[in-house]
Amino acid sequence: MRLVEWKNVRRLCSRKAILTVNGEFPGPTIAVNEGENVEIKVTNGVSINTTIHWHGIKQLRTGWADGPAYVTQCPVRPGQSYTYKFTVTGQRGTLWWHAHIAWQRATVYGAIVIYPRMPYPFSTPIEAEIPILFGEWWNLPVEGIEDDMNKYGSGPNSSDAYTINGLPGSLYPCSAKDTFIQTVESGRTYMLRIINAALNDELFFAIANHTLTVVEIDASYTKPFDTEAIMITPGQTSTVLFTANQDNHDSTGLFVMAARPYLTTVFPFDNSTTIGFLKYKGTMAENMALPKPSDIVLPHHLPRMEDHAYATKYVSQLKSIGTKQYPCNVPSKVDKRVIITISLNLQDCPANQTCKGYNGKRFAASMNNQSFVRPPTSILEWHYRNYSSVKYSSDFPQNPPNVFDYTGVDPLTHNLNPNFGTKLFAVEYGTRLEIVLQDTSFLNLENHPIHIHGHNFFIVGTGFGNYDVEKDTARYNLVDPPERNTVGVPMGGWAAIRINADNPGVWFMHCHLEEHTSWGLASGFIVKSGTKPTQRLLPPPEDLPAC
Ligand code: C2O
Repeated sequence: MRLVEWKNVRRLCSRKAILTVNGEFPGPTIAVNEGENVEIKVTNGVSINTTIHWHGIKQLRTGWADGPAYVTQCPVRPGQSYTYKFTVTGQRGTLWWHAHIAWQRATVYGAIVIYPRMPYPFSTPIEAEIPILFGEWWNLPVEGIEDDMNKYGSGPNSSDAYTINGLPGSLYPCSAKDTFIQTVESGRTYMLRIINAALNDELFFAIANHTLTVVEIDASYTKPFDTEAIMITPGQTSTVLFTANQDNHDSTGLFVMAARPYLTTVFPFDNSTTIGFLKYKGTMAENMALPKPSDIVLPHHLPRMEDHAYATKYVSQLKSIGTKQYPCNVPSKVDKRVIITISLNLQDCPANQTCKGYNGKRFAASMNNQSFVRPPTSILEWHYRNYSSVKYSSDFPQNPPNVFDYTGVDPLTHNLNPNFGTKLFAVEYGTRLEIVLQDTSFLNLENHPIHIHGHNFFIVGTGFGNYDVEKDTARYNLVDPPERNTVGVPMGGWAAIRINADNPGVWFMHCHLEEHTSWGLASGFIVKSGTKPTQRLLPPPEDLPAC
């Protein structure tokens, strides 16, 4: 039983009430076994609506338990409960859960750990498995940010800190006590289950003097590789191993771990760094006070902000494990290709409104110039019940509205006034779908971590500049592309993903930068039920909330 409730928490010199689950921040870790049937009753103990999403769980035939408000369910209203029921099939590793309404996920999030049925595909014995959740902290309340953005067409204020497991770390004011410390024993190997729950920033992460071995991303195994730092977008998870082997006599036994953003933006932006420590047992570190902020040296291999070369190289090393036991099921052919441009837009300010976006206009964001508007009801329910679809339509444009050439062109001229509406596209059960995501953002300063619900996908190609069907399809990796649920579309570039659309339901697809989702950088697709009984969406549970 999970209760969403307010709790007073002190961070960065002041106290505020935040939404929590079971009074914990970050929320409780949900540990399940591969293949297990899971039931989680969520009770809304506050006076605002809520929902919970199990990020990355495929929800095979159980779209009712997916969680995005107004897409697969109406919100759980104050005082109500809803039991999310699903089976964990064909996935193992690290995922996470978070609120999926307004900006509640700023504080309502936690880890999901799926223990594999078979032993880990790496032989090193693991001493401990440690969830590492990156987050962002705002001194002001976050629940109303989206309302303000809607009202003024503005951007959000930047956060006041990044956090590791809810703790900003001692580089921030009043935060010496709020620093994450992990004790380790010399010679042992540890598993970090890393989750980027931050709202708006991709992060680099490194531990001084220690090498990280990446073994799994988004609950799917990778070919293990060593790296000095990782890059992780909001929405993504990465499981890494490291061995505590740096306990030499010239060291104190205390090592800094740090996360900081990969990209800066021109908007108010938090460019600070969150740190924690590894502390070796039986060393000086055990009896030592933590160093003063001015004495802290960040890991020298933590990449600098804007280190595109590092980020690109890191991402290119991620490959599916592709063994007999865990084959890479990337579709080698496709039945349907959808090309989607991703834009940030400026919309003219309606008369009688005050707009605080840019140049007196409103910010918006769109896919194929279509800015997503959440309907007042559950799209999944309307789809299932075959209600005449006045609330949404299935005519999302499957090609960019303009011939795209965004290199060297002033993107502002392409990006005015998107269309607003609730448009999705529909595919038959079993479609081998390719989606090409092409970034076109004006100002062009961000990756867009695009997340798809209900399916994992294979990232068969990425590149900079304009996507070119002929040239780029020839270079696809159809052997061992990484399997994920969230892809960072390179800024000023593209990513091609392939999906076996074998999960009937309505699936949200959106940028996992919360500000962009709020501006409408979203769409979704409907996978129709197949002919066999096992290819159909299950009926809705009885306690499904109503709008
Ligand atoms: Cu992690 Cu639609 O969300």
